[in-house]
Amino acid sequence: MPDSHKCLRDKLQKWQQTAFFPHSQIDMHLSNAPSEAIEVRELWKVIENPASRVEILRNLSFTVPHGQFVAVMGASGSGKSTLLGLLAGLDTVSSGSIILDGIDITRMREDALARLRGQKIGFVFQSYQLVPTLTAEENVLLPAELSGANGNSRRRAVELLERVGLSHRLRHYPVQLSGGEQQRVALARAFITGAPILMADEPTGNLDSSNGQHVLELLLSLNREERTTLVLVTHDPKLAAYADRIITLSDGQILRDEIRNQA
Ligand SMILES: Nc1ncnc2c1ncn2[C@@H]1O[C@H](COP(=O)(O)OP(=O)(O)OP(=O)(O)O)[C@@H](O)[C@H]1O
Ligand SMILES: [Mg+2]
Repeated sequence: MPDSHKCLRDKLQKWQQTAFFPHSQIDMHLSNAPSEAIEVRELWKVIENPASRVEILRNLSFTVPHGQFVAVMGASGSGKSTLLGLLAGLDTVSSGSIILDGIDITRMREDALARLRGQKIGFVFQSYQLVPTLTAEENVLLPAELSGANGNSRRRAVELLERVGLSHRLRHYPVQLSGGEQQRVALARAFITGAPILMADEPTGNLDSSNGQHVLELLLSLNREERTTLVLVTHDPKLAAYADRIITLSDGQILRDEIRNQA
């Protein structure tokens, strides 16, 4: 094993204790012939403490077919990031269910859920969440390494970083990158495992129009070429205009659900 690879493995092992990524491949065939990529049924997210009760999401129900590109819009505080976190199994529902590819993730144990996430979901966080002790290239490789990488992952990581315009920043650490560059690394990382469902929270929010266009093109080409299901939170009507469907949230409820193109 080359030294650089061994060094990466050591760093990854340290990171594994806290990682939300899986440590191994998920068992296949967990369900029979699921018809929808995402199914949300009577979903509530309520935060309660003795002093207050905040109803963040109120009784949402919708389904997303495989390959659809859904933009989620709505004012700041309307519940977009909360919804995306729940869809990806990164947060727990108060009630209702979320079914990904026929599997009810609201009833799964954390270890099984972590494996499912690794197999099915690529996620771009609003706040990037890069690992500070890993370089750009290592951050992109991380999900692949943790789910049992094959020899092609490093090449794919470099290709993805090239596609987001960062081939000259492979060995840079997050602190050495601008906000927009970190966001592009996070985007490349979401694509590394070829997950069938991609979720992205404002992936172009910190990019100038030329880099924003790059990222948009990457998202769209993967969505079309690989029939990836894409759920994209955005404030940008220009970005949402490319979507097959726009779900608009208002105060934790669906205000509008517009189908624009059939997936
Ligand atoms: N842990 C929490 N406790 C109490 N309220 C919370 C908590 N997390 C989120 N909220 C509230 O839930 C609402 C929805 O938050 P969320 O982050 O989902 O909004 P958003 O639509 O993504 O907004 P933005 O466009 O600003 O990113 C906000 O009013 C927020 O203050
Ligand atoms: Mg948000």
